[in-house]
Amino acid sequence: MASTAQSPDGVYYYESADQVPSNITKYWLQRHNIFSKYDEGVWLTNDAWFGVTPEPVAKKIADHVATAPAAKTILIDAFAGAGGNVIAFALSGRWKQIFAVEKDPKTLACAKHNAEIYGVAKKIFWIEGDIFTVLKTRLKSTAKNAVIFASPPWGGPSYTNFDVFDLSYMEPYSLTHLYEAFNGASSEVALYLPRTTDIRQLAKYAKKDEKLQVVHYCMRGASKALCVYYGSFAVNVHADASE
Ligand SMILES: C[S@@+](CC[C@H](N)C(=O)[O-])C[C@H]1O[C@@H](n2cnc3c(N)ncnc32)[C@H](O)[C@@H]1O
Repeated sequence: MASTAQSPDGVYYYESADQVPSNITKYWLQRHNIFSKYDEGVWLTNDAWFGVTPEPVAKKIADHVATAPAAKTILIDAFAGAGGNVIAFALSGRWKQIFAVEKDPKTLACAKHNAEIYGVAKKIFWIEGDIFTVLKTRLKSTAKNAVIFASPPWGGPSYTNFDVFDLSYMEPYSLTHLYEAFNGASSEVALYLPRTTDIRQLAKYAKKDEKLQVVHYCMRGASKALCVYYGSFAVNVHADASE
């Protein structure tokens, strides 16, 4: 099993196919699409492979989140994982401060290491902890002036088994749980959710007369996931379509 000299237990850099657990092979074959700098020694836990946002999608999301009001200069990545999104946020140069919160220390070590590979680790404040506690304590006053981006775990019954996925079954945090915690803390919140998400559930939280922006992020013509943007974002998907 590959592991660089410095990587903690349970954190790996797989260099060749024979090192990769069979349930990860499918993702490992996509490694350069997930992290273009993978070969520079990107670290992942075996769990992180399943949730990391591929780099082209993370970059496009960073462009869209950047359209929040200019007065918002702080970004909080609530579930930083192995760093797929937070690296893209830091590379965008849009944010004066970026906080990356992750409760699993090994996964957080991956995110920091991967951000070093991309040259942005020092632009990010790394917080090991539970985002729901951190928002009530360390980031309580910061959150009001921040945009919150959240790519939660998509556990529970697999969204791929449903044409329309009911987010009340998403585990361990349902849409209601996420919305109440994040939209209670900040007026600008972007949630990264399964592509089969029931849009009507998202719409229930729109303000009166507000038109919600929901964007599908596609690779090779197929949706990978969607983001719902609550608050003032000026996402212009028409400009993207002509790129
Ligand atoms: C889908 S992954 C995020 C992937 C990340 N966007 C990326 O591109 O690498 C979700 C992450 O949330 C973390 N997590 C789960 N519950 C959490 C909590 N309450 N507070 C902070 N992190 C949490 C998990 O450990 C996991 O790494």
